[in-house]
Amino acid sequence: MAAVTADQTTQSTSGTAEAAGQAVGTAPDAADAARLAVFDAAVAADDRIEPRDWMPEAYRATLVRQMAQHAHSEIIGMQPEANWITRAPSLRRKAILMAKVQDEAGHGLYLYSAAETLGTSREELLDKLHAGRQRYSSIFNYPTLTWADVGAIGWLVDGAAITNQVPLCRCSYGPYARAMVRICKEESFHQRQGYELLLALSRGTEAQHAMAQDAVDRWWWPSLMMFGPPDDASSHSEQSMAWKIKRHSNDELRQRFVDIAVPQAEALGLTLPDPDIRWNEERGQHDFGAIDWTEFQEVLKGNGPCNEQRITQRRRAHEEGAWVRDAAAAYAAKHTTPSTRTAQPAQHVEETA
Ligand SMILES: [Fe+2]
Ligand SMILES: [Fe+2]
Repeated sequence: MAAVTADQTTQSTSGTAEAAGQAVGTAPDAADAARLAVFDAAVAADDRIEPRDWMPEAYRATLVRQMAQHAHSEIIGMQPEANWITRAPSLRRKAILMAKVQDEAGHGLYLYSAAETLGTSREELLDKLHAGRQRYSSIFNYPTLTWADVGAIGWLVDGAAITNQVPLCRCSYGPYARAMVRICKEESFHQRQGYELLLALSRGTEAQHAMAQDAVDRWWWPSLMMFGPPDDASSHSEQSMAWKIKRHSNDELRQRFVDIAVPQAEALGLTLPDPDIRWNEERGQHDFGAIDWTEFQEVLKGNGPCNEQRITQRRRAHEEGAWVRDAAAAYAAKHTTPSTRTAQPAQHVEETA
């Protein structure tokens, strides 16, 4: 799944000086001004900013935070669905779910690697996640109570993630944009497998249909919250839009998602739990009901149903994986000792590189 969700992208720590593209505490000199002009021109021309290019510190900090939270969401997002791998109803469903959960681990790896190009290490980012200093998407703090939740997550949560993430393929920072191209292709399969799973349940027995409906009832509103606070309450979106990290506002993306989901729900034979959804002829879009932002804020504060469980399990997985990291580091060290390097002539290394 997953998700860079706007609830993460809008939590900027940048202050006013940073927002103006300056390092905090330093007056811009002429060289800085010239570099900033080059950066601004590249962004304006839709060129990609690459790791070695000069960039404002606030741009770098915003990207690190967004990419880290995106990466954290990918790996924490493995938990609610992995919960059902051992109980998948058939070998086919089990194989699909295992592949999906593995994809999410891969998405985390691409994104931690992309964040490393900005001068931060994966270790540092994981430490911040484990210490509660960086967030992951709130959606993963909800429980997966039945098998139908696997379908609802694929259809709605991966669906919302795609709506958020497709514009990130055009993000101004090259490594992030390129990672998103591959991620979006995989997310698209995730969404389709969820839809297909729900369709099978919806057309199954009465009890299966009811299970599918119940899952959609529980996941619909949290999925809408994935786009983050309404535009008028989202204070940092504007700078991200100017930098072309973010391309559309939270409300625009949420509306786009609703307009896609409504006909899909009809095709599934399921009802969205919002009596206010109706087509607005004048706007050419669907109207929908008010979101309970109090619930969103509570989950964000750590009071969601599974916040504690998710982070505890993540810390435990990290501790239990220590021997794998140690072994990998020992292996790498063994192959970069001076004796190994001198054993191979430089010419040979170049030819086989
Ligand atoms: Fe996914
Ligand atoms: Fe993902």
